[in-house]
Amino acid sequence: MSKRPFYITTPIYYPSDNLHIGHAYCTTLADSIARYKRLAGYDVLFVTGSDEHGQKIQRKAAEKGMTPLAYVDGIVANFQKLWRQLGVSNDDFIRTSEARHHEVVQHIFQQIYEQGDIYKSEYAGLYCTPCETFWLERQLVDGKCPDCGRPVETVKEESYFFRMSKYEARWLQYIEEHPDFIQPASRRNEMINFVKQGLEDLCVSRTTFDWGIKVPFDQKHVVYVWFDALVNYLTAAGYLDNKEKFNHYWPADIHLVGKEIVRFHSIIWPIMLMAMGIEIPKMVYGHGWLIVEGDKMSKSKGNVIDPTLLIEEFGADAIRYFLLKEIALGADGNFSRDALITRINADLANDLGNLLHRTVSMINRFNGGVIKKGGPSEPVDLELSALAGKTVAAYEAGMEKLEINAVLKDVWALISRANKYIDETGPWALAKDPAKKERLDTVLYHLAETLRIVAILVSPFIPHTAPKVLAQLGLAADQPLALNEAKIWGVLPEGTTVVSKAEAIFPRIEVVTEAAEAAKPEKKEKTAKAEAAAPVEKAAPAEEEAPAVSIDEFARMDLRVAKVLAAEKVEKTEKLLKLTVDLGTEQRTIVSGIALHYAPEELVGRNVVMIVNLKPAKIRGIESRGMVLAASSPDGKLTLVAAPDMAPGSRVK
Ligand code: MSP
Repeated sequence: MSKRPFYITTPIYYPSDNLHIGHAYCTTLADSIARYKRLAGYDVLFVTGSDEHGQKIQRKAAEKGMTPLAYVDGIVANFQKLWRQLGVSNDDFIRTSEARHHEVVQHIFQQIYEQGDIYKSEYAGLYCTPCETFWLERQLVDGKCPDCGRPVETVKEESYFFRMSKYEARWLQYIEEHPDFIQPASRRNEMINFVKQGLEDLCVSRTTFDWGIKVPFDQKHVVYVWFDALVNYLTAAGYLDNKEKFNHYWPADIHLVGKEIVRFHSIIWPIMLMAMGIEIPKMVYGHGWLIVEGDKMSKSKGNVIDPTLLIEEFGADAIRYFLLKEIALGADGNFSRDALITRINADLANDLGNLLHRTVSMINRFNGGVIKKGGPSEPVDLELSALAGKTVAAYEAGMEKLEINAVLKDVWALISRANKYIDETGPWALAKDPAKKERLDTVLYHLAETLRIVAILVSPFIPHTAPKVLAQLGLAADQPLALNEAKIWGVLPEGTTVVSKAEAIFPRIEVVTEAAEAAKPEKKEKTAKAEAAAPVEKAAPAEEEAPAVSIDEFARMDLRVAKVLAAEKVEKTEKLLKLTVDLGTEQRTIVSGIALHYAPEELVGRNVVMIVNLKPAKIRGIESRGMVLAASSPDGKLTLVAAPDMAPGSRVK
């Protein structure tokens, strides 16, 4: 245990229902921070879990005719399954129903009682059961819970109270002396204003139900669910059962929580710890909420998004990337399917996926799959390697400030720069000239080395993808990665052999419009699917055989060999190339959706096969007369049909 410790937690979630994408957001954030810290060399303890007691769960279980424990067991198993699917790397999963936790809660309750900070009285007031929160009349909004807007219940029962009021001045002083404890700053001000209105003693036991931890000296009472839940952070760190572990990891570095529960974590929790004489955690960070198409998620609105279905459809890393990139930490963020698909296609399939695919394909095609270091660097190479260095430095600084979106933006700027570097250095042209072999090696090395660094940098966020990138480059993918390895340029060993076939790590998602779906013989359920190759003119998928045609019908298609004379990207598009081709008797312009698979320079001088009597179409203002034929594989690879030695204009039958 010589490495620096880092302890990060998520809230423990109520197993009253399965989790939604908002919960997945919080856990993905915490997981990415935990993974980053491991990458940076820390000894990390990352804990999540389930908050199983309380009136709400007891009622839910009763509605289903189950015991509370049987009810939560099923849901907690689903939590754990979801975290595995999402690639969450928690070191512990704490359930408040576990004996190790009961012991700690009872110990703390007893100690605070014995020192006189817990006393018995009667509670008469208002309670929001869904939020498990006590409210005062003046705190309600339109007579309803100010947090969730649902009706509150009047409760009157004998209760134990925690003397929070005694700690008001100490709390204010602590917050003043520790300006970084509550983050972001807006939440800190909110909490200060709240406490300045006067801190009431907190009701910390209930008697009208029994699903909870018994008050050790008064068995009719169960401990208030928040007093119970907050203690999980101590239990998981080994407070009673592993002193060495506790001393190593405590105080926690970050409690990452949603904005509506910052109050519990930044007021009640530190005061409980003050009463116990335990050090206060370093930071409570309140993140924003994920809203759906502008609206708060709720069962009654029917807009609750199930993360499991999204993971099954798009993959865990795509969902993780979207959540981390789209939402600025601390602010609310919107989830929409369209935005998700746009991100996947632009950032993952196009930028990262293409850079890898192009690089590995070129190393195979031009160098028999072997990476060579090449010769002296030219300014364009130095610019790329310098940007990689700058990106790593900005990444480290940004992650220390939890600026995950900014960090991702920087990494993607490096990826874009590398894609542009391919266009600038033109490896295809270099490959044609044996005298430029060393230069070609240098260029390919720069690309592979940039990708190695990118793989390390993205590993905390898209942990399933990083090993795939490394494996494609022919590097060990099962070793723990280290940030230090990204700080040095030139680590990739000469002679490394890339995989023989580049793989599309993120197939593009094609949005199928409802009209197009309706036109198909069988309507499919999904509205989006992975698209193999993105040609403008789409062939029937290989697995579905098209209806039979007669030989005459086939003969109506005029297929010819054409030579590409010029090729350029169609402006403001990702996948379109404008080609000028020679058909022997004439030259034509065609627009083809192959830009993700072929660079313009690669095509010039090459023979392709095209259908010449396809009705002309105007695409992005360019009249396209004909269509180039390409074979597409299910993994998204596209290869042009070739007829290398035939004269332009030759018929294909
Ligand atoms: N059990 C308590 C936490 C106890 S921690 C000692 C609780 N559970 S919860 O299941 O209701 O919520 C857990 C977390 O999920 C909270 O931090 C909450 O902010 C977060 N989220 C719930 N809905 C959310 C979104 N729509 N978006 C982002 N986070 C959301 O509170």
